[in-house]
Amino acid sequence: MSPSSVPLLDVTERANLRLHNSFGLPAVAAILVRVASAADVRRVVDHPAYGVAPQFILGGGSNVVFTRDLDAVVLKVEIMGRRLLAETADAWIIEAGAGESWAELVAWTVAQGWPGLENLALIPGSVGAAPVQNIGAYGLELKDRFESLDAVDLVTGRSVTLGAAECRFGYRDSVFKQHLAGKSVITTVRLRLPRPWRPVLGYLDLERRMLETGNARPDAATIFDWVCAIRRAKLPDPAVIGNAGSFFKNPVVTPEQCRDIIGRDPEIVHYPMADGSVKLAAGWLIDACGWKGKSVGRAGVYDKQALVLVNRGGASGAEVVTLARAIQESVYGRFGIRLEPEPIIV
Ligand code: EPU
Repeated sequence: MSPSSVPLLDVTERANLRLHNSFGLPAVAAILVRVASAADVRRVVDHPAYGVAPQFILGGGSNVVFTRDLDAVVLKVEIMGRRLLAETADAWIIEAGAGESWAELVAWTVAQGWPGLENLALIPGSVGAAPVQNIGAYGLELKDRFESLDAVDLVTGRSVTLGAAECRFGYRDSVFKQHLAGKSVITTVRLRLPRPWRPVLGYLDLERRMLETGNARPDAATIFDWVCAIRRAKLPDPAVIGNAGSFFKNPVVTPEQCRDIIGRDPEIVHYPMADGSVKLAAGWLIDACGWKGKSVGRAGVYDKQALVLVNRGGASGAEVVTLARAIQESVYGRFGIRLEPEPIIV
């Protein structure tokens, strides 16, 4: 291939990232490269300057808080495409490019008659970001529907395919937030939707819908509609109010710690876990400290769900972090529990 026929990278210098993060926070990337294929990622790796510069991987930007400009090469993953890869007696296997919208993928699969992702409806962000933090909602996590993914190593440029065990999924966690953080670009994700379909209805909000509607055997499209309605009622739409979903993880404590806290606050919302530990509702803890609807500068706590921090208009990442620290301190002061942020703070 002659040099002139080598496809060029789509590069923007001094790119504003405000429209590329769901919080709408201002930050300038020294270099923004839009990658449309695994080959584009390899071109970055092989590039004489970009390949050796600090790099930052950006998906839909729905789980990141920018507190500064990035003197780095930001790889904006825009790898598109989605298809039914295989249909077997026991599953539909769906394949999607990492740059696809997660919410659109879920809506499309349900509309096509391939149920199984409906509980994960309307979660903002890209398909490639879904495994990074093992997104979850209404009793289902990405790992429950995961088949495999392809990723390109940012050092060697080599493509690898990882299965669920290698991704080491945990609660809002995976190998991509641990030792592969910033080192590996997810390019394609495959999902396994089991046949026959079985609804996941254990979550309190869905049980409530069954009672209210008298529909005890909802189909996937109905569950999809319910989840969309529940989310719209509780969570701000990032297109309207900047936010990154839940700002903190729900903390997990020992049964002794939980007994101690319940002794002082009998109302505390908590869920026993399979391993004997107890998960506490961080939203409840923050709400109990009186934070709902409060603001620090132009960053605030959403008035319908205290776990969500919002940009009230023109907030900086520093303001969001100041608010988050103040919340952490008050929850620690009252309950002795350290809340851990869910998004990546840059
Ligand atoms: N609560 C309050 N006050 C609040 C918020 C919550 O008292 O301001 C109470 C609720 O009444 C409820 C409990 O806390 O009894 C839990 O609240 P909710 O059902 O809204 O869920 P969550 O634990 O706050 C988690 C996920 C969400 C996910 C929902 C539904 C985390 C960190 N968050 O929130 O995920 O949509 O469950 O499954 O695990 C995200 O990760 O970005 C996210 C939105």
